[in-house]
Amino acid sequence: MFTSTATIDPDFTIAAVPPRLFGSFVEHMGRCVYGGIYEPDHPAADADGLRTDVLKLVKELGVSVVRYPGGNFVSGYRWEDGVGPREQRPVTLDTAWRSIEPNTFGLNEFMAWSRQADAEPMLAVNLGTRGVEEACNLLEYANFPGGTRYSDLRVAHGVREPHDIRLWCLGNEMDGHWQIGQKTATEYGRLAAETAKAMRRIDPRVELVACGSSNERMPTFGSWEAEVLDHCYDYVDYISLHAYFEQTPQNRAQFLASASTMDRFIEGVVATCDHIAAKKRSPRRLKLSFDEWNLWYESRFAGQDNLEWAQAPRLIEDEYTAEDAVVVGSLLMSLLRHSDRVAIACLAQLVNVIAPIRTEPDTDAWRQTIFHPFALTARHARGEVLRVDPVGPTAGPHSDAPAVDVAATRDPETGAMTVFAVNRHETEPGLLELKLHTDEPLRVVEHVVLGGDDLLATNSKRLPDRVGPRSSTDHTATHAGTGSGLSIGLPPVSWSLLRLDPH
Ligand code: AHR
Repeated sequence: MFTSTATIDPDFTIAAVPPRLFGSFVEHMGRCVYGGIYEPDHPAADADGLRTDVLKLVKELGVSVVRYPGGNFVSGYRWEDGVGPREQRPVTLDTAWRSIEPNTFGLNEFMAWSRQADAEPMLAVNLGTRGVEEACNLLEYANFPGGTRYSDLRVAHGVREPHDIRLWCLGNEMDGHWQIGQKTATEYGRLAAETAKAMRRIDPRVELVACGSSNERMPTFGSWEAEVLDHCYDYVDYISLHAYFEQTPQNRAQFLASASTMDRFIEGVVATCDHIAAKKRSPRRLKLSFDEWNLWYESRFAGQDNLEWAQAPRLIEDEYTAEDAVVVGSLLMSLLRHSDRVAIACLAQLVNVIAPIRTEPDTDAWRQTIFHPFALTARHARGEVLRVDPVGPTAGPHSDAPAVDVAATRDPETGAMTVFAVNRHETEPGLLELKLHTDEPLRVVEHVVLGGDDLLATNSKRLPDRVGPRSSTDHTATHAGTGSGLSIGLPPVSWSLLRLDPH
């Protein structure tokens, strides 16, 4: 057993918990839309074909914002094909995923779904095969009140009130060789600037996200962001980050420390944004939109070029283990820790495709293991994120990362605190000794743990609730005149959440 220590002081805050930090992502890919959120033939579908069992889990997950319709899909998408009378919509080819797109679900169906899910929409425009004009037409259709070509078309389609969509992504992963309509940083930076200028003229309230690198391993990471922002810094509000993590037989220690990689990635993008701000003598500080993050067992995916044309094929339906849930919990801690700059984050994706929620046509939707740390964090990370710097040993001989990571939030209204802790050591239990600089004594009202044992267990159609949070009593709270102490036992490879209320 090893010991790590940390001090939590309510006066040392990072930022208010950003409400949009608990977002997700619905792409026209595999069975995320068709057979996922929308399946008219399913017994749980409502009159509009939306699966109510999925909607129930989406609300339980606590998703605050949902990005749509892609992803790679958006770079070849014609939004016009997905609106208007269903019987007149064309069946088209989705070149991103070599899929047949029936277009029976489009913008207006997504907006109806997101209202039912209590989630804010975040729309991506196609800057792969299309450009400024088509992005403006879509914005006019979505947000302009009426009396013009595209706003009247929306009204003719039965949607009288404008959708008033605030968040817009200017394309998707435009640096990627896999992207339809890939661009150089100069081409994309100019296009993003011009699209942003025009979109703001139509609706000055929009918030715009420019594409950063597709991931931190791209050879142009850093220089892509710098060049793109050189062109569009003054016209956009956010730059995007995407990251997928994967365990391989060789990298377990590194995988368990994925949150350290995420920390470094975020801090690198912040530095690049602020470098451009300095060059431009700009007082504005750009925020980050981490609009795709998750675990993805990508090495099991054959690649787009090897797919057979099909409608709603089973694509990347990864089944997550208890160990994966621990890592997802720790990635959420990294996002919380950077809440002064990361304003939006989207777990990719929402249903079936590398997702917290799984469906099959013949049963109710179920929760994957990774559902649990997300739902618990979204529910209990309240108020302000506190600064915590744990001190302790590394996660073992093969790891540079600290064995224990800690994050904390505090609701200033009630004084209630939530502590998140992860033990990344592969074999040793840890003891976390927390010093709490609070005037009032605190008592533990909930302590749950994920992982610790049966790390390869998964949830499945047959055993949907095999992995979930377990209650723990492995903590001791003390109170002295100067504050409180809390010792928490952390099993090896585990994620814990403790809720503390003032007495
Ligand atoms: O989420 C799956 C894919 O991953 C998205 O379409 C793309 O943006 C990313 O490469």
